[in-house]
Amino acid sequence: MSSGAPSSLADPAVLRARRTEDVVVGDEIVRHRLASRVIHWSVALLFFLALFSGLPIWTPVLGWMAHLLGGLNVCRWLHPWAGLLFFLAMAAMFVHWLGDMRLEPPDREWLRPRKMVEYMKHEGDEAEVGKYNGGQKLFFFAVALGAAGLIVSGLVLWFPLSFPRMASELATLLHDLTFILFVVAVVLHVYLGTAAEPGTFHSMVRGTVTRRWARFHHPRWYREVTGERPRHP
Ligand code: HEM
Repeated sequence: MSSGAPSSLADPAVLRARRTEDVVVGDEIVRHRLASRVIHWSVALLFFLALFSGLPIWTPVLGWMAHLLGGLNVCRWLHPWAGLLFFLAMAAMFVHWLGDMRLEPPDREWLRPRKMVEYMKHEGDEAEVGKYNGGQKLFFFAVALGAAGLIVSGLVLWFPLSFPRMASELATLLHDLTFILFVVAVVLHVYLGTAAEPGTFHSMVRGTVTRRWARFHHPRWYREVTGERPRHP
């Protein structure tokens, strides 16, 4: 039965978002092409798989979580493999997005502790924000570093007999500290990518954003993609 509305598969913006990004299609702008979205969601899925299989191993307080994945024995073999696949997906994401994440002078602002508060209140000067803001770039490099810390310490913990006892103890500390920081960062990331900024989640599902969203959150990127000149008050 036809409703008269274009089906999502035949939608020109969706078709364009399969292969290309940073282009205008009608009233929308393609922000994340299909490859970027597949890589991002693979990272997210494997992150949560590694997390939920790792938490019951970490502490008996969260032992009940093991039932979600078939029991503690399943978690014990699943966790290192999920972690390894998570690292490989992260490596793919790093290579895929590195070109867009080059740090520029305005991004240094994000090293100031007050910047995040200003950003949340929309009080900062965002006119020169390109495709990703300084906070997003910092998040990108922080999770890449975190993933490296998790894989190095994880491999030591996976094969404890191949390393001196001291290395295993240090690896436990590094693994635990890194994953706790990771969880805090991801909770904040999910909040910013969903509830805090309506329209952002859409970009990672459909691939597109509205012109209004782009002009508001990433004005320089908007100008580069559309060719519009900056507006002066
Ligand atoms: C349910 C979980 C998640 C949701 C809802 C989510 C949502 C999003 C969205 C909407 C974007 C696009 C932001 C934009 O275009 O401006 C994004 C980008 C990104 N995501 Fe996620 N994400 C999730 C999990 C993860 C995880 C687990 C990681 C890494 C461990 C991750 C790493 C990234 C990175 C590096 C970017 C690009 C930089 C940025 O926009 O912050 N995401 N995510």
